[in-house]
Amino acid sequence: MLASVSLLVLASALYSFYSTVSNLRANIERAKQSGLPYYISPLHPLSPVAQLTNKLWLRAFKLLPRKYWEKQLPVLNANWHYRDNHKPFEALGTSFIIVSPGRLMLYTDDAQVIHQVTSKREAFPKDTAAYSLLSQYGHNVLTTEGQLWRMHRRITSASFNEKNAALVWRESVKQTFGLINQWLGADGQGNKTIKTVEQDTMALTLNIIMYAGFGVKMFWPGESLPAGTDARLAKYASLDAPEQHTMSFKDSLAYTLHHILFLLLTPKWARRALPMKNAKFADDAEKNYLQFMQEFLKDKIEDVRRHDKEEGMDIMGSLVKTSYGEKAANGSAKTSGKTMQLTDPEIIGNAFIMIVAGHETTANVMHFTVLELAANPDAQRKLQADVDRLLGKSDPSTWDFEENVNPLSASMVAAVVNETLRLLPPVVVVPKIVSPGQDQPVHVDGKTYMVPQGTQVSVTIVAVHRNPRYWPTKPSKLTDAETDIDDFVPERWFQTGTLGDTGPGEVEGADTEDFGGFSGPDTSAQLYRPPRGAYLPFSDGARSCLGRRIAQAELLAAVSVIFQNYSVELAVDEWASDEEVAAMSREERAKVYKKAQDKARATILKASSMLTLKLHGNDHVPIRLVRRGEERFVNFVDASI
Ligand SMILES: *[C@@H]1O[C@H](CO)[C@@H](O)[C@H](O)[C@H]1NC(C)=O
Ligand SMILES: *[C@@H]1O[C@H](CO)[C@@H](O)[C@H](O)[C@H]1NC(C)=O
Ligand SMILES: *[C@@H]1O[C@H](CO)[C@@H](O)[C@H](O)[C@H]1NC(C)=O
Ligand SMILES: *[C@@H]1O[C@H](CO)[C@@H](O)[C@H](O)[C@H]1NC(C)=O
Repeated sequence: MLASVSLLVLASALYSFYSTVSNLRANIERAKQSGLPYYISPLHPLSPVAQLTNKLWLRAFKLLPRKYWEKQLPVLNANWHYRDNHKPFEALGTSFIIVSPGRLMLYTDDAQVIHQVTSKREAFPKDTAAYSLLSQYGHNVLTTEGQLWRMHRRITSASFNEKNAALVWRESVKQTFGLINQWLGADGQGNKTIKTVEQDTMALTLNIIMYAGFGVKMFWPGESLPAGTDARLAKYASLDAPEQHTMSFKDSLAYTLHHILFLLLTPKWARRALPMKNAKFADDAEKNYLQFMQEFLKDKIEDVRRHDKEEGMDIMGSLVKTSYGEKAANGSAKTSGKTMQLTDPEIIGNAFIMIVAGHETTANVMHFTVLELAANPDAQRKLQADVDRLLGKSDPSTWDFEENVNPLSASMVAAVVNETLRLLPPVVVVPKIVSPGQDQPVHVDGKTYMVPQGTQVSVTIVAVHRNPRYWPTKPSKLTDAETDIDDFVPERWFQTGTLGDTGPGEVEGADTEDFGGFSGPDTSAQLYRPPRGAYLPFSDGARSCLGRRIAQAELLAAVSVIFQNYSVELAVDEWASDEEVAAMSREERAKVYKKAQDKARATILKASSMLTLKLHGNDHVPIRLVRRGEERFVNFVDASI
């Protein structure tokens, strides 16, 4: 008996070994036929098992002779994208395949390939399996493909127009005053060390999206609800838990987002069984948040039935209208014979994605922009000179989007935001897949390669942003690197023209349909224009970010408001007290500041991406907000650069 069991075990082990090896062989053959360079990995790097046991299996892999793993090892590490970016591509090729027994995976930071992949939605659909987690609260425009996605996109894109970009601009101005007040402190003097830049920028962008997108007013600590506010809205604005809730809306949302990976990965019963206090707390936050969203949905359905019109983007309203509006009441609205109707979970799922995508990404960009400007005083001074030139001392509440957006888009303000997005794009990789059915050609520098069907494609945004072929560079002034491609140098955007543009302008078989969203020019005429496929902070093609225009409006406004009257300095408390700084010569101060600059840069390098690229855990860079004219460092440091 025992003997036959162990024989069975042995046989099945041999069989699975045999089938693994034969799968690997077949996959190697397919990779070979593509004509692209390929490298072998024992596990598919994106499989859950490989990700969970990353260090372990890599250690086992390294027991083999060096030649089997040395080259591809860097891209098998978890989280290499931001840390190593373009460097592995230099060694492995700008497009290469990792072959495992499970499947093929194409990595690319070649602008020509990326441009072809993002322009052909049907040949290279989004790999929605990679987003399955984010459909937890309902399917939505991010997690769907094909016909279903088309419907979600059409419904959600309606709110993203110029009028609403202007609304976001005004709200951004207003909320940035709230942020400044937080940073100035109770006495309004500023000059206080702030360690919460990440949380504060998150609050800023959350307040903006909740008002502009959903009509829900949110407040900064110390601000209060004006008397006579509609009771229904007051429920969401309240900083205390309203009736039948154990948490305020703001907290429920903030904590749900804060624990989002845990919540998406842990089933409900497990959360409640876990002994950690945080597990229960996160579960509670999610319960409250979902309950708020259900109530919000109910309110909106009433509004729509009563024909109440909400100002602004009213994202929830337009989602609800498709299922509960006029036409919908008699069955459903029909377009080209296809039913266009969202279910309640789909409405809530889309609202969730709009809140997450609409605030965490922009918050990260705002966060890193502030840090980079503090770490690069020369860039900060140039930015302030442009803000002075374009906006002077005028009151920001009078700034007009239409009038100001173009001049700002050609200024140091846009160059700074573009440069932050180049170095620290919130989304570091876009996952695509070659649709099953046929292999797909890609053309590179006159040669054609066939990418096998089913191959996953990793469009490595954060790497192509640092591929020196496409960017104006100079020798680095900060390091001994050959170029300054890894440095924050917004001035590079003032070189005009395009580099490395060797691909065909038009992609054969590209989508021609209009999928909604901003349709104006996607580059500023006065700034550098990277070739198509080389710069994708908002992705590109049919699946590009709907919110690009409003994110740009939001960022240009917020940065201009902060730096009109204030400067941001790195805090140096770790190296010198205020009294010590006060007694220092300029030279000594520059020396202290240099320590803070080095540390800030090292900290920014520790960013990593779970959902979006940001600092995790306790990593943070302390800063101070000071009135212009009262700087201790940034008014003179690095003046020679
Ligand atoms: C639904 O259809 C009926 C008859 O077709 C019509 O009388 C009614 O007004 C419609 N209701 C709505 C809300 O459109
Ligand atoms: C900056 O100061 C000017 C006038 O001195 C004022 O009009 C403007 O509102 C101030 N801006 C901010 C952001 O405080
Ligand atoms: C740089 O920023 C401006 C303003 O946000 C924008 O209009 C322009 O498209 C950006 N450049 C590129 C190449 O995206
Ligand atoms: C900032 O505050 C400290 C005391 O907290 C003070 O010593 C220093 O002079 C202040 N700096 C400026 C520029 O006001």
